Amino acid sequence: MSDSFVTVCRVGDLTEGQGRTVVVDDRLVAIFLVSGEYRAIDDLCPHQGASLGAGCVEDGEVYCPWHGWRFRLSDGKWADNPRLGIDVFETRVVGEEVQVRVGGGK
Ligand code: FES
Repeated sequence: MSDSFVTVCRVGDLTEGQGRTVVVDDRLVAIFLVSGEYRAIDDLCPHQGASLGAGCVEDGEVYCPWHGWRFRLSDGKWADNPRLGIDVFETRVVGEEVQVRVGGGK
C-alpha cells in the first residue's frame, strides 16, 4: 500500500454535504465535503458492508444508507458507540486537485 497522496477529484466536483466513493490504492474510500473541508473515511460500513459514500451527511456525521448507523467524519467513530469506528484518511487540496492518503490512516 502506498503512503503517498492520490488525486481523487477536483475542487468543485463535490457540493457541500455530498459524498462519493473513490478508489485509492485498491481501497474503497468515501470522501465528503463538509463545512468547506474534505473528509475521507473507509467506504464500507462495518455493519453489513453498505457504501458510506452514498450516505447522507448531517452535523458532521454520515448516515449509512442501509440501516442508518452514523459515523463521525472527523474521526470515524460510530456515533452510538465511540469505542468502535472505521478508518479516517488524510486529505489535502493541491491547486485544483483533492487528494487522499490511505497509507497514513489516522
Ligand atoms: S450496512 Fe450500514 S448500517 Fe447496516
